[in-house]
Amino acid sequence: MDYKELVDAAIEGRKNAYAPYSKFKVGAALLTKEGKVFTGCNVENASYGATNCAERTAIFKAVSEGYRKFDAIAIVLDEHEFGVPCGICRQVIFEFGKDIDVVMANLKGEYEVQKITEILPKAFGPENLED
Ligand code: THU
Repeated sequence: MDYKELVDAAIEGRKNAYAPYSKFKVGAALLTKEGKVFTGCNVENASYGATNCAERTAIFKAVSEGYRKFDAIAIVLDEHEFGVPCGICRQVIFEFGKDIDVVMANLKGEYEVQKITEILPKAFGPENLED
């Protein structure tokens, strides 16, 4: 599947990054099953641990507006590197589906795609709470 538009949305989302402490801007864009896109950026805090990553910003925006089924999430960090999600964000992505494509992109628009289950093997999820 072509994720160019989703990557462009993540690049756009990155522009709003609030990263005065790390100076490290991150952008994300989440594609819902319905075809709607939610962007996200990292939002840092003077109390560093209160920082929210770009991926979780996008997911929390979507969930808070009633969307829970997602096809893909794109992440952009910088010019060269493909944007990998941190461990906490992988866990949050997994909560909403084993089949989600994680689109790891750079600012040039290049990307690679892996399923969330590939980059978070043996994950703990909602099913583990069932009897
Ligand atoms: N960050 C993200 O937004 N997403 C990730 O997956 C990795 C880290 C942010 C958090 C912090 O504002 C900055 O990048 C440096 O860690």
